[in-house]
Amino acid sequence: MKVIALGTAAGGGFPQWNCACEMCRRPDLPARTQDSLAVSANGRDWYLLNVSPDIRQQVLAQPFLHPGPGPRETPLRGALLTDAELDHTIGLLMLREGAGFQVWAPDNVHTALRKGFPVAPIVSRYHDWMWHVVGTERFTVGSLACTTLPIGVKRPKYASDGAGPWSVAYRIEDPATGGVLVYAPCLGELSADFEAFAQYADVVILDGTFYSAGEMSGATGADGTAQRAMSHLPVSGPGGSLARKPPVRWYYTHLNNTNPMLDAHSPASAALAKAGAEVLADGQVLDL
Ligand code: MLT
Ligand code: MN
Ligand code: ZN
Repeated sequence: MKVIALGTAAGGGFPQWNCACEMCRRPDLPARTQDSLAVSANGRDWYLLNVSPDIRQQVLAQPFLHPGPGPRETPLRGALLTDAELDHTIGLLMLREGAGFQVWAPDNVHTALRKGFPVAPIVSRYHDWMWHVVGTERFTVGSLACTTLPIGVKRPKYASDGAGPWSVAYRIEDPATGGVLVYAPCLGELSADFEAFAQYADVVILDGTFYSAGEMSGATGADGTAQRAMSHLPVSGPGGSLARKPPVRWYYTHLNNTNPMLDAHSPASAALAKAGAEVLADGQVLDL
């Protein structure tokens, strides 16, 4: 299985279009598009994990995803959604020209994409896509075997009430190689369930929104309430994800523009390297 990091920034990207903070103004830090992966078992049929507003730019930048061989042919076959946040779903609108797509998502996400952000009925006027609800059952995507774990109850701001998980982690296994990917860009806590879910993975790609618990406090109140309400577990600190890293390949994505891990020469990046973890880069390709 090949995994491509198409984008590695949180909502708004890096630099963020409406921000002139110290980080966003630094010309030495590489720009990042919004969080999304592409996976393929055979190198010909590709599935997106989340579809960011930057999907057009991401496809143009990635030779594996270029169209062809004929007109109106694309190797993109569909998408799996971890949640209904706009940075993970707006790109579905951009894909409306594509025929025959399949979309997998948890039940609440389907509801959000029919009501609060009705992208499903909108794109269905262009092409007849297939929409699958993912629950606790194992399912297959091409030849890949997939399972999900509910990991979050934070509802997108635009969505109305709905019970059940609003975000899930995916575990994707290629039976041909035995390679296992776990992807969880919206992780509020590292529960025992999640640790079991990720235990035998070869590669774990995790929520790297914030490095520290109080990172946004300058802008949003010294107690860190606003940041906690976003339900993204920080990387550092005793309750952070890095302290619980098992001996697997461990990457961070969905970096917010406040995150010092954006700077490869920062003490935060040094702490990551010391723990054997890495920040994913836009365009990075992993084989597993
Ligand atoms: C999140 O990751 O928490 C959301 O994407 C936040 C947002 O952009 O509204
Ligand atoms: Mn996000
Ligand atoms: Zn900024």
